[in-house]
Amino acid sequence: MIDVLLGLQWGDEGKGKIVDYFAPHYDIIARFQGGPNAGHTLYVNGEKIVLHQIPSGVFHPHTANLIGNGVVLDAVTLRKECEAVARFGADVRRNMFVSKRTHLILPTHRALDKASEMQKGEGKIGSTLKGIGPAYMDKTGRNGLRVGDLLDKNFTTNYIKLRLKHQRLLDNFNFSEDISSWEEEFFEAIDFLRTLNIVDGEYWINERLSAGQKVLAEGAQGSMLDIDFGTFPFVTSSNTVTAGVLSGLGVAPSKIRDVIGVTKAYCTRVGGGPFPTELHDETGEALRKAGNEFGATTGRPRRCGWIDLVALHYACMINGVTKLVMTKADVLDQFSPLQVCVGYKVNGEETNQVPFQMTRVAIEPVLQQFDGWKTDTSVCKTAADLPAAVQEYIAFINQQIGAPVCWVSNGPGRDQIVAL
Ligand code: GDP
Ligand code: IMO
Ligand code: MG
Repeated sequence: MIDVLLGLQWGDEGKGKIVDYFAPHYDIIARFQGGPNAGHTLYVNGEKIVLHQIPSGVFHPHTANLIGNGVVLDAVTLRKECEAVARFGADVRRNMFVSKRTHLILPTHRALDKASEMQKGEGKIGSTLKGIGPAYMDKTGRNGLRVGDLLDKNFTTNYIKLRLKHQRLLDNFNFSEDISSWEEEFFEAIDFLRTLNIVDGEYWINERLSAGQKVLAEGAQGSMLDIDFGTFPFVTSSNTVTAGVLSGLGVAPSKIRDVIGVTKAYCTRVGGGPFPTELHDETGEALRKAGNEFGATTGRPRRCGWIDLVALHYACMINGVTKLVMTKADVLDQFSPLQVCVGYKVNGEETNQVPFQMTRVAIEPVLQQFDGWKTDTSVCKTAADLPAAVQEYIAFINQQIGAPVCWVSNGPGRDQIVAL
């Protein structure tokens, strides 16, 4: 049986913290897409750690962690992460596994990402510059190298061939940065990667499912960054939605049980692209401050705005969300009134659907006002502790979205979560 946990907005919903909270109930935590563009923040013994590629179950010794075939893997980042988690007592050689079919991010993919963004100028996507787009292009273009290829004696020859191809593209972009130090680091990291548990991920996971083990698939990014259903072209290059679990791990749809969607009590986005409820005023600034909204991967300030139920409803529909987690409710503690987006005015016409083209139309959010709670909710332990205004806010979301909020996260700490 597989439960899925994924973000319903533009990423950074607090997925890492929630996976870490649920991990003791699962045998396996599996990443199925994305790569080091992700930054999942966890607190272990009160200390903060950000995971980019290692699944967020790594600190639970009885939970195995799989990096699935749908991920694009940067060996250099992985090596650093493995060293970082070891300082917290995690042993990746014991409880982490990497699929042979996982595609590798090469140093030239990172260079191509940078070159492509530079060429786009004003229209740039705001990529994390981790090489995600170029690595997935090489996967679908049938050029990429995979983790299993590391075990082949021709790996270096094949690497050089692909590198040459990339060099021609970089020349077209007039990209002249010296990346030789990146390459040196890459080969050292490749040697390290060879020493990890490299497995046939699809057999590995299906054998365990057949034996009755429970899997939690950990999404990266968010549904509005999905390559098909997000705010294209301001998206990432993978399927971040539930459908991505099937191809990203090699599992059948009949194995999926719950789809747990994570949403903030408000909304953020980092990088370019449409964001209908964005606040450009002091309230937006205050949200950024209260929520400490700065990117876990790039440190960039996140754009902030009110919760968007049009986008949330759309994301729940595409993912088949059965349960919701609302994070960062405590961040709204001092805000009153609160606004909730219940519709879009697109070129003056009201709709409750996400339009095909969000970039070239004017979208004005239709807002409904709610009283804030003006109470410190970070200390709440049970549903009964939550102020009535929080309960009303949640009841409205449940009714609009058609899936229930079952947990409210009220602080970054491991224990700051209230089950409803
Ligand atoms: P992810 O990418 O979805 O895992 O989310 P990030 O780690 O990028 O960003 C979420 C940020 O919010 C991190 O700094 C978390 O420590 C923090 N966080 C998570 N849940 C809560 C919460 O309920 N309240 C507060 N105040 N912070 C939270
Ligand atoms: P987690 O898993 C927030 C955004 C980037 C950019 C766009 C494309 O921590 O929620 P890419 O590097 O994928 O080519 O960038 O997607 N982005 C994220 N935003 N959280 C993430 O991951 C993100 N991963 C990518 O900012 O706008
Ligand atoms: Mg993040």
